[in-house]
Amino acid sequence: MTLIDGRQTSSQIKSEIAARVADIVATGKRAPHLAAILVGHDGGSETYVAAKVKACAECGFKSSLIRFEDDVTEQRLLEEIQRLNADSDVDGFIVQLPLPRHISEQKVIEAIDPRKDVDGFHPVNVGRSSIGLPAFVSATPAGILTLLSRYDIDTKGKEVVVLGRSNIVGKPMASLLMQKANPGNATVTVCHSATKGIAEICRRADIIIAALGVPGFVTADMVKPGAVVIDVGTTRVPDSTRKSGFRLRGDVDFDAVAPNCSYITPVPGGVGPMTIVSLMQNTLLAACGDIYPAV
Ligand code: GUN
Repeated sequence: MTLIDGRQTSSQIKSEIAARVADIVATGKRAPHLAAILVGHDGGSETYVAAKVKACAECGFKSSLIRFEDDVTEQRLLEEIQRLNADSDVDGFIVQLPLPRHISEQKVIEAIDPRKDVDGFHPVNVGRSSIGLPAFVSATPAGILTLLSRYDIDTKGKEVVVLGRSNIVGKPMASLLMQKANPGNATVTVCHSATKGIAEICRRADIIIAALGVPGFVTADMVKPGAVVIDVGTTRVPDSTRKSGFRLRGDVDFDAVAPNCSYITPVPGGVGPMTIVSLMQNTLLAACGDIYPAV
C-alpha cells in the first residue's frame, strides 16, 4: 500500500508555482493577486481562508482578505463582487462558502465574472469544463486529478465510484473523470443518498472517491483488494485530547481499509492541501490569461 502524500505533493507544486511567479516578476509584470471574501466567523471557513492566504505568500502571490460580519446584506456583498470584477489589480477571487442563510449562494456565485472565478463555481466554468473546454475547475476535483497524475495512477478504462453528488466535488469529479482526456477515460458511477446497494457498487471499483461528509462511511468490506481510495471527507469530530477540542475525520475507515488498498489518501494530509494548491494554480492561470485570453 502506498500512502498518497498530499502535503509533500502540494509543497512541491507551490515551489514550482513560486519559480514561475519569480520569472513573471523578473519580466517586470506584477505578481498574481488573489482576493478572498470571508463573511462571519465560522471556524472551518476561518481556517480554510487563513490557509489560502498563507499559500499565496508561499507562491509569491499578493493576497487580499476582505471581511464582512454575518449581518452583511446580500446587496452589499454583490456590490463588493462588482468592485472586484472591475478591479484590474485582482486576477481572481473567491467568496468562502457557506454564507449566512439570508444570502443566496447561487446569486453570489453567478455575480462573479467567470474570468475571475478561480473557484470554478460559476455555471459558465462548470459548463465549459463539462464539455471539455478550457475552464477554471473546482479546486478539490482538480487537486485529486493532480494527485492521480503525479502518482502515475492510470484512470483509462477503470471503474471509478464517486460517493457524493455535490456541485463542488462529486459532480465535477465525475464529469472530469469521464472526459476523453488523461486523467479521464474512466467508467464513472456516482452514488448518493438515494442509491441502493452502495457497498456492492463500491466493491466493483478500481478507484473510490469518497466525498459524502460521513465519517468512516467506507468500510473494509466495500473495497476491492488493490483498489485506489481517495478520501475527501474532512468532518470535525470532538476530541478532548486536542487543544482545539476536535480532529478531522475522513469518509473512509482508514485503519481497516488501508492494508487492502494499492493507494490511499490520509485525512488530514491527503486531498486537503491539494485543494488549496489547485486554487493557487487557478489563480496563476487567471493572471496569465491562460483560460480566457484578453480580447
Ligand atoms: N467552502 C468549502 N470549500 C470551499 C471552496 O473550495 N471554495 C469556497 N469558496 N468555499 C468553500
